[in-house]
Amino acid sequence: MNKNFKLYLPSRPRRLRRSAAILDLCAENRICPKDLILPVFIQEGLKGSKEIPSMPNIHRHTIDSLLHYCEAALKADIKAIAPFPMVDAADKSLDAREAFNPMSLANRAIAAVKRRFPEMLVVADAALDPYTSHGHDGILDDSGTWIINDQTVAILCQMAVSAAEAGADVIAPSDMMDGRIGAIRSALDDADLENTAIMAYSAKYASAFYGPFRDAIGSAPKGKKGAKKYLDKRGYQLNPANASEALKESRMDEDEGADILMVKPALPYLDILAKVKASTDLPVAAYQVSGEYSMIAASALKGWLDYAKVRDETLLCIKRAGADMILTYFAQDFFQKPLV
Ligand code: PBG
Repeated sequence: MNKNFKLYLPSRPRRLRRSAAILDLCAENRICPKDLILPVFIQEGLKGSKEIPSMPNIHRHTIDSLLHYCEAALKADIKAIAPFPMVDAADKSLDAREAFNPMSLANRAIAAVKRRFPEMLVVADAALDPYTSHGHDGILDDSGTWIINDQTVAILCQMAVSAAEAGADVIAPSDMMDGRIGAIRSALDDADLENTAIMAYSAKYASAFYGPFRDAIGSAPKGKKGAKKYLDKRGYQLNPANASEALKESRMDEDEGADILMVKPALPYLDILAKVKASTDLPVAAYQVSGEYSMIAASALKGWLDYAKVRDETLLCIKRAGADMILTYFAQDFFQKPLV
């Protein structure tokens, strides 16, 4: 080893990595609770809250326990939630009529949160999957394989208006039907709800990372043990092989009046996120989905990954790629005991 060897370098980038203080000063991105939207699951008739088996440390809430949860979230500066209902089997149907019932569980939860915490931003889901008996995001045609676009959009419009009337600040159509953003915008405007914003799931991929979410809201196909559990949504959600198509969808949603665009899932689709961000002046959201959460949670429970470090790294990378805001189950860790 030659201890006298010396390089005379014009620049030594490592000078900026010498201490935590200088690393912080030079950090180009940061995660703060104000960037996050907390997805929350609700269910009727629970005693307190109930953990979701495939999403350790994430619970379904009653409206009451949701209010406590929101109170804690607000104290930690988490100011936005996105509720998703687990709908009783008796309220599921082929025509998803419960979706626009003003007294649906989702609408009652929205109203209860807004009444108690007017400052909490509520992002209401507009999609039929919690309400259809088969779990698809729309009305099936007679062949039982194809979702009828325009009839589905008509129901989404009613659903959006009912959620906005319940008090939702933002309507988030998560279904990927054609033309739904423009139709929902017109329906809201016609109902004098012109101040309700639309967060469009513009680039929502047909992803297997949604598995745990479908357990959480009970939209996975039921059947005998060993029956196919995978719900094939490739007839409407985007093909993971495609990038240009995501840009086309984002442009269409923007032209139809979307206020915020979204890319989903997040981590496996950072290239899409960066491209969408570069192609629009609208704010862009990313959804770090259930499977992304559960993968990290399961691995951490086995002691294979450092939970907090991996969590924070993923959130930072999603921001760096271009997300202005992130929907993430990890938002809960700002106000509840983390998983490990
Ligand atoms: C359906 C919907 C899904 C998610 C949000 N809304 C899943 C699906 O398309 O089946 C997934 C969220 C997650 O996995 O965390 N409209």
